[in-house]
Amino acid sequence: MLVGNMVPIQQFVKELKAIPEEQFTHSNVLEFLRRHPIDLESLEPYLYFCQEHYTRNLIQRTPLFDLIAICWETGQKSPVHNHCNQSCWMVMAYGKVQVHNFRLVKKDAATGFCELESSDSYIIDRDSPAEVDPGEPIHLVANPQSFGSRAVTLHIYSKPYDICEVYDLKAKRYETVRLVNTTEYGLVKSDMKLEKADWRSLVA
Ligand SMILES: [Fe+2]
Repeated sequence: MLVGNMVPIQQFVKELKAIPEEQFTHSNVLEFLRRHPIDLESLEPYLYFCQEHYTRNLIQRTPLFDLIAICWETGQKSPVHNHCNQSCWMVMAYGKVQVHNFRLVKKDAATGFCELESSDSYIIDRDSPAEVDPGEPIHLVANPQSFGSRAVTLHIYSKPYDICEVYDLKAKRYETVRLVNTTEYGLVKSDMKLEKADWRSLVA
């Protein structure tokens, strides 16, 4: 359960930056997220939606972490991917998403072959921040049509990383891809066709 009052993103960032690296642990960050429910209105500069693709909106990068808001149209989902051995915590700023984990059965770096097995899935909503399972770090995130709403997730990645592996289940292939932010510090960095959303339109 979340505890306490809504926190504006500026205060959230300030307090997150104040956590010393040795205390930036799995349980501490999760507890921090539970105690700092984010005020959606303060995320206004980062709320960009695109019909073709979810958007990645960098809020803060430090040597220790990236803080990114991802905006999901109804029906959008990520590819199956990993996090290159970095930790990731997720919390909802609006709506809910489904996370689906996969187990690695076989992988061959020389040929790009991979075989995955579907594992568990769970839902993240406002009351339940989550951490990507370090033991099973391959997953996808989806905002299915059935949820009937846009969604905004907040992700903390530690340490920051710019590439990850993306898996094609059907073709049994994987490749390394470079991550691209749609916006950084509120500035558009992409030529995607974007809609700047008013936070009130989400809650209306
Ligand atoms: Fe992820």
